[in-house]
Amino acid sequence: MFTNKNNTILWLMFLFAFSFSLDTSNIVVVVLSQHEGYHAAHAKLLKDKIIEETLAFDQNPPKFIFTHEEHVNGSWTYFPLITILYSRFPKADWFLFCLDNTAIKFQGLVKLLDSYNTSKDYWLGHALYDKDPTIIHHFTDQPKKLKYPNVASGFAISNTLMKSLNSRLKIFGIPETDFSIDASYEFANYIFNKGKNGTRLTHVPEFCGFFTTNCVTYPKGFHVCANSVSREKIYVAVKTFDANHQSRIPIISKTWLKHVKNYGLFSNIEDKKLENVIIVPNTKEGHCAKTYAILQHADKILQSRGIDWLVIADDDTIFSIARLTRLLTCYNPNNPVALGERYGFRVIHDDGYEYLTGGAGLVLSAPLVHRIVESTACQCPKSTTPDDMFIFGICLNKVGVRPTHSPLFHQARPIDYSMNYLSSQEPVSFHKFWMIDPIQVYEHWFKEADNELQSTWQHTEL
Ligand SMILES: *[C@@H]1O[C@H](CO)[C@@H](O)[C@H](O)[C@H]1NC(C)=O
Ligand SMILES: *[C@@H]1O[C@H](CO)[C@@H](O)[C@H](O)[C@H]1NC(C)=O
Ligand SMILES: *[C@@H]1O[C@H](CO)[C@@H](O)[C@H](O)[C@H]1NC(C)=O
Repeated sequence: MFTNKNNTILWLMFLFAFSFSLDTSNIVVVVLSQHEGYHAAHAKLLKDKIIEETLAFDQNPPKFIFTHEEHVNGSWTYFPLITILYSRFPKADWFLFCLDNTAIKFQGLVKLLDSYNTSKDYWLGHALYDKDPTIIHHFTDQPKKLKYPNVASGFAISNTLMKSLNSRLKIFGIPETDFSIDASYEFANYIFNKGKNGTRLTHVPEFCGFFTTNCVTYPKGFHVCANSVSREKIYVAVKTFDANHQSRIPIISKTWLKHVKNYGLFSNIEDKKLENVIIVPNTKEGHCAKTYAILQHADKILQSRGIDWLVIADDDTIFSIARLTRLLTCYNPNNPVALGERYGFRVIHDDGYEYLTGGAGLVLSAPLVHRIVESTACQCPKSTTPDDMFIFGICLNKVGVRPTHSPLFHQARPIDYSMNYLSSQEPVSFHKFWMIDPIQVYEHWFKEADNELQSTWQHTEL
């Protein structure tokens, strides 16, 4: 009554179901999920797929935690989650942390985890390390190379390690840090405990940086959600001032800005050599007044021209406009959306907050721009207040909007990141013309992607 194919499937199911002793319900899958619809939907897809798989193999589904449902500030830094997770699931064998775009082959993962003894301190994942001290890791120079996980590949912590982290946090409290930048690195630094008696991340090749056949986890590549967003629907505001007109504007004009349909160069003085200069108050530091003036100006432009998105960039931000238009297909411009790279300022302490860091470039939907300029809560305390921390952190909070984090935006230069990390994604931006050739960075990382844009554009123009 069974076909050969069915027999094979049954036999495979039998093999799988009995080839490991680990009870799958003793695994806690912790998705560092986000409120925004696209990201929340992906977290749900990940969960549904794993549940479906466990049901097909007659296993108990694992436990799931979506951090966006936990209402814990700074859960993306991991620290606040440890105590919550350990007290809720003290008997869990494994805690698997991942992102909404992590692909998990659950049967393979369970089989792999089953080969480790959960009564020992284990931390398994896809290890990254720095060649040189880097700004995004606070220039910490590690005597022994610190391995830190690529969280998009997921990482697993054994019960015993979770227990000791929990008691360490209970005794000594959450470490005092002002800035949270690369949470996986900062967490790894804590777990490693300067090599004294901490635990090193174990690199497991099956936790992959990109898909190959033996992977049990890997970061899913980005896929567009609809046809590319028209460049007519994007307005780019470049923050600049006279001293950079000659040195930086020609570089961005030659590389990415030429792909932009609507833009303004927000500067302190007019310049006959430049088009689209808009005068805004300048400040030597902080730039809050300047960025606020940009928002006021941009609000009028977006409203009058029916433009959906405002991009705010520094004059030394480097973009792929093609990838940006693809990325924006996944977000709804009618919602209040703030998209960019998330940093934290004392985010795990009561007085802290998260914000979008300015240099990486950031994107705001038109309704959000309007909401910000309408709200008295968003007026700068001082003209020199740090613009990103205030406007894209404190002010967003006050107008009830959470920033949406995209790891594709980068506050630093390509050389500041681990190459294995960058090769596991398709970056949208980099930042800073400092000891690098920005044209070379553009050509290496973005030109090919943007060329396609040019050809479709020429095609439709014909
Ligand atoms: C697992 O580790 C614990 C503690 O080191 C040890 O007592 C136990 O025998 C180990 N179990 C197996 C199956 O190796
Ligand atoms: C690690 O060392 C610290 C002191 O540096 C100590 O308080 C702590 O209990 C140790 N932890 C373990 C797991 O041995
Ligand atoms: C979380 O942060 C927000 C804004 O920074 C703050 O208003 C709120 O009280 C914090 N919640 C908790 C539980 O600390």
